[in-house]
Amino acid sequence: MEIKIYLTQQQQRVEEHLAGLIPDAVGLFHNHIESMRYSLFVGGKRIRPILCLAGAEAVDPSEATRKKTLTVACALECIHTYSLIHDDLPAMDDDDLRRGKPTNHRVFGEAAAILAGDGLLTYAFDLLSGQASAALPDADRIRIINLIARAAGPLGMVGGQSLDMLHEGKQIGYETLRTIHYSKTGALITASVVSGAIVAGADPEQEMALETYGGHIGLAFQIVDDLLDVEATTEELGKPAGSDMKAEKSTYPSLLGRGTSRTMAREAVQAAISALTPFDRQADPLRALAKYIVDRTR
Ligand code: IPE
Ligand code: IPE
Ligand code: MG
Ligand code: MG
Ligand code: MG
Repeated sequence: MEIKIYLTQQQQRVEEHLAGLIPDAVGLFHNHIESMRYSLFVGGKRIRPILCLAGAEAVDPSEATRKKTLTVACALECIHTYSLIHDDLPAMDDDDLRRGKPTNHRVFGEAAAILAGDGLLTYAFDLLSGQASAALPDADRIRIINLIARAAGPLGMVGGQSLDMLHEGKQIGYETLRTIHYSKTGALITASVVSGAIVAGADPEQEMALETYGGHIGLAFQIVDDLLDVEATTEELGKPAGSDMKAEKSTYPSLLGRGTSRTMAREAVQAAISALTPFDRQADPLRALAKYIVDRTR
């Protein structure tokens, strides 16, 4: 499995489908739509939508299933992009660069950036509940909507972001840090994989295995994000390196050191791959994505 080729191919599918889902920046709301489109189409690895597609593929690799999964995948990217816009705001991480470009609030101003985030978050649920995903049976849709709402909400990503902010400049224990990482990042990543699997008609055992997989790669993803913040350059990342230290964030490398953090990320990836034993070759993309998550340089 050549991960680079797989990523490029899936990224193209996501870009194409996303372009068809987001309204054009014309008419009365053009300023608002423009600010949403700016962050959404400025780049990004599209990992969550790709995990959603790969989760579906592990259960059913047919093209018909992939097509049905694309809107769910794109809704996840809308939610993720909203979280980045808000994460960069002066009241939060106060960063000026994202995806290689000035952050949303630097271009459109703070009020517009807050609203761009709100617009993207809400639009995701419009996509999931409306015409764009009408090909899915209603029972599956409701499960997916609930799964994603929970993952993005107060006991998931938003709750994690709130804990992240609350603990700036404070000493925290490993358990708390792990909880923050699972919730602020792991929850949406897990929901990405599992929602794809639901579209593909996963059975409960498959769903549980993929939930375990998602939790492990979600944790690994944020550990590596913390490591890259200290190890990579701003140019490589397309976002400001050293941002965590500046904000006195609690991170894996700050608490446990770089070596231990890297080892823990690798162990999490191994645990993720082990969780995939009920799956055959159809889960190879998920296996390759897990490895990519620790090996990535941006
Ligand atoms: C960055 O996510 C925020 C985290 C949860 C660590 P990504 O590294 O997936 O960012 P993009 O989407 O590629 O810009
Ligand atoms: C953000 O974590 C997690 C989100 C839910 C957006 P970070 O604050 O570390 O993400 P980056 O490093 O700014 O992308
Ligand atoms: Mg943050
Ligand atoms: Mg940040
Ligand atoms: Mg970070």
